[in-house]
Amino acid sequence: MQDVWKTYPNGVMAVNGISIYIKKGEFVYVVGPSGAGKSTFIKMMYREEKPTRGEITIDGKDLSKIKEKNIPYLRRNIGVVFQDFKLLPNLTVFENVAFAMEVIEESKENIRKRVMEVLDVVRLKNKARFLPHELSGGEQQRVAIARAVVNKPAVLIADEPTGNLDPETSWEIMHIIEEINESGTTVVMATHNRDIVDNMRKRLIAIEGGRISRDEIRGTYGYEI
Ligand SMILES: Nc1ncnc2c1ncn2[C@@H]1O[C@H](COP(=O)(O)OP(=O)(O)OP(=O)(O)O)[C@@H](O)[C@H]1O
Ligand SMILES: [Mg+2]
Repeated sequence: MQDVWKTYPNGVMAVNGISIYIKKGEFVYVVGPSGAGKSTFIKMMYREEKPTRGEITIDGKDLSKIKEKNIPYLRRNIGVVFQDFKLLPNLTVFENVAFAMEVIEESKENIRKRVMEVLDVVRLKNKARFLPHELSGGEQQRVAIARAVVNKPAVLIADEPTGNLDPETSWEIMHIIEEINESGTTVVMATHNRDIVDNMRKRLIAIEGGRISRDEIRGTYGYEI
């Protein structure tokens, strides 16, 4: 990101001049108080929001130059995971993950093979035919992670992926995300989880008032709440 700003149509200035370079394969936590601009920062990376000004380049591509119709192809290269899972309730685990490959028109055979492969990574092969409501929160988040990485994206972006989960389940999710990072995927993750940040040390960026206030190689959470 090169001098990126975001003012929402209602006048709220959410991001105020962020410049940052994230290397391929890095793992970066984004922390900061509520309303600091973390989600806005993240949403601009997958073109959910456009910056008011500034430049964002991912994997050599200038995001502002991507046409609306090509956004699905950008999303193939950037997997996203949310706090509230966002699974399709009427599709099985298999179908939820397969869907991400169908939209980019992969062959049926490739889809079947790759979906079972990622369900293995998130340890859910035995629940491929289950519907989301038949799963625990942690299992639903594992499906969401499988869906996010099924197309082998260069970057995995997660906005509070453990926000709705108990501590033990949160650690399970983190170990899966760490494994995905170790296989070469760049990870950017916004979180309020002090326990995870302080015990699984990674590069840490703190955002306050829409600006970067800290950028540490193996940072700690650092806020009192
Ligand atoms: N769609 C929107 N329209 C207008 N203002 C918004 C919008 N989304 C966020 N904001 C505002 O932008 C600021 C930053 O919000 P953002 O969601 O990026 O914060 P955050 O750091 O992710 O907070 P949290 O930790 O609570 O998730 C806030 O003041 C918020 O009210
Ligand atoms: Mg947020």
